[in-house]
Amino acid sequence: MQVPERIRSISPPFMDALIARSKALRRDGADVISLGQGVPGFAPVEAAIDSARQSLSDPATHVYGADAGLLSLRQALSERLKKQSGMKVDPKREMLITAGANYGFLLTLLTLLEPGDKVLLPSPFYFDHETSIRIVGAVPVEVPLREDTGFQLTLADLEPHLKTRPRALVMVSPNNPTGAVYDPREMREIARALASRDVTIITDETYQHFTYEGAEHFSLGSLAEARSHVITIGSFSKTYSLTGWRVGYLISDADYLQQALKVQDSMMVCTPIVSQMAALGALGTPAEELARRREMLAERRRLLIDRLASIQALAWRPTQGAYFALVSVQGCTDSVALARDLLERVHLAVVPGSVFGQTGEGYLRLSYGSVDLDQLDEACRRLAQYFETIRA
Ligand SMILES: Cc1ncc(COP(=O)(O)O)c(C=O)c1O
Repeated sequence: MQVPERIRSISPPFMDALIARSKALRRDGADVISLGQGVPGFAPVEAAIDSARQSLSDPATHVYGADAGLLSLRQALSERLKKQSGMKVDPKREMLITAGANYGFLLTLLTLLEPGDKVLLPSPFYFDHETSIRIVGAVPVEVPLREDTGFQLTLADLEPHLKTRPRALVMVSPNNPTGAVYDPREMREIARALASRDVTIITDETYQHFTYEGAEHFSLGSLAEARSHVITIGSFSKTYSLTGWRVGYLISDADYLQQALKVQDSMMVCTPIVSQMAALGALGTPAEELARRREMLAERRRLLIDRLASIQALAWRPTQGAYFALVSVQGCTDSVALARDLLERVHLAVVPGSVFGQTGEGYLRLSYGSVDLDQLDEACRRLAQYFETIRA
């Protein structure tokens, strides 16, 4: 079948290959530990499952709903966002419930971009963002960030690229894969500067719930003056451990949202109602339960900081968000080969930095989301064994 080059040239999803090989090794009896996939590794919050279960006896669950999503969910979510990040959103005109943040991102690009438009992508980046930009025929422009500044994004990083007249900037905070939580003062400056050049900021806040050591998530959409140039994308996947239910949201000004609804209608009509009901239930989860989960992740993060410090070949400058450590590896020039070798020899699944863009080469991403403390401890023991005996 004839397939355009812009699709053919995209590499097959790395995570699929990693998961398939891990499964094959497990089938052969290997005890594979995964620090690979970026999932939170907790059971779904109970309130979500109860709400989904109850909705099954309601005929409305089994038919199409409004393109923008259930109004009850939009209302509850806008209340939650107001409390949480001071964002004032009109649930009837400025919010759309999407089938996850990834879908929300592609929907955003389809609505926003002309083929050939340039999109600034701070690097290392979340690989699906780059893929989506290519799928719509736009051009990703890598903006390299530096480890010695904690992979923070600054206006100075963006300035050299503004002459190329980009249409949009993708901002992810807390970040995948670096774990960086961007400085609100710098975000404000960036918003001001980009609005004056008519560049739209697409902010992906999938990990907003996961910050540590006093770092706080800041939503650019909470700035009234920035709203005309900001599109906010969020997700229920990570905060509530609902990755398989595929629910997220998009917030923008009312005019843009009207346009996005045309794309939504032709691709999805609406996000599955049973999943929206799960999301509505999830919003009722007690704050203490979410805090308990975050504290468990914070504990894993502390263990990882401690263990990595004693492995000479590895260095991590701890960042304050999500559940990722982007760890630099002494002398590594081929992180894909290294990740494969780690999986084969010590049965440890990690993600090579190069899948997050050129700036990621020489790094490995370790996700501490889905392992308990004992597994994380064992994973670090294997890292030490690999780098101190096998690789040495
Ligand atoms: C930055 C970022 N955005 C979006 C997603 C996907 O979220 P969802 O499950 O809501 O599509 C991920 C998943 O890893 C992610 O890291």
